[in-house]
Amino acid sequence: MKNALAGGAFAPAYSITQETEQDFAEREALLDRAMGAKRKRKSSEKLRRGRLPAAGLAFVARDKEGRLIGTVRLWNVALGAGGSAALLLGPLAVDASFEGRGVGGNLMRHAIAEAARLEHRAILLVGDAAYYERFGFSAVQTGALSMPGPYERHRFLALELVAGALEGACGCLLPAGRREQSRRVVGKCAAA
Ligand SMILES: CC(C)(COP(=O)(O)OP(=O)(O)OC[C@H]1O[C@@H](n2cnc3c(N)ncnc32)[C@H](O)[C@@H]1OP(=O)(O)O)[C@@H](O)C(=O)NCCC(=O)NCCS
Repeated sequence: MKNALAGGAFAPAYSITQETEQDFAEREALLDRAMGAKRKRKSSEKLRRGRLPAAGLAFVARDKEGRLIGTVRLWNVALGAGGSAALLLGPLAVDASFEGRGVGGNLMRHAIAEAARLEHRAILLVGDAAYYERFGFSAVQTGALSMPGPYERHRFLALELVAGALEGACGCLLPAGRREQSRRVVGKCAAA
C-alpha cells in the first residue's frame, strides 16, 4: 500500500495511509470537531449509513506524533436504479491545526489516484466548488443526477476518471456498498 509523505524528505510533517478499524474513534472525533453534530443529517449520509467504504478507498493523514489529522473516504453508489457504478467522496476533513498546509489537497489527490488505479470510473460529491474544482470536479455532469435528500444543486459535483463515464447518467444516487456489521458489542443479559 502506498504511503504518501509530505513536508520534506527527511522529516515528513504527515503521512497518508489506509484507514484501519483502530482509526474509528479518532476519525469520528475529528469529523465532529471539523463538521459538527449536523454532519450526520446530510443527504450524503443516506448513501453511507450502514455501509462500508469502497474497498481500499478510506484514508487517514497522521502527523509525526501519530495523531490523526485528516480523513477522506469514498463509497460505492449506483447512478440511478440499474445505473452504472460510481463513487461518492466524503467526508473530507482536516484538523484545524493543519489547515492550509496541503493535507486536504494531498488526501484528495491520493484518493483520486487510488480510485483510478482501482479502475473506478467516476467520483461524485457534495461540496464547495471553489475548493473541489482544483481537482477537476464540476457540476457540469450532475444535471440529470440527484441526491436522496435535500442538497444544493450547485454543490453537487463530479469528476470522470474515464472520459464519458457520466454520459447519459440520470436518476437518484443509490447506496451500493458492502453492508457494515454493527460495531456495538451487545453484552449478555446478567439478569436471572
Ligand atoms: C476543506 C478542508 C478539508 C481543506 O483542507 P486543507 O488541508 O486546509 O486544504 P489545503 O491545504 O489542501 O488547501 C487550502 C486551500 O483551500 C482553500 N479552501 C479551503 N476550504 C475552502 C472552501 N470551502 N472553498 C474554497 N476554498 C477553500 C484555502 O483557502 C486554501 O487556498 P489557497 O491554497 O489558495 O491558500 C478543511 O478546511 C476542513 O476540514 N474544513 C472543515 C470540513 C469541511 O468543510 N470539509 C469539506 C466538506 S465539503
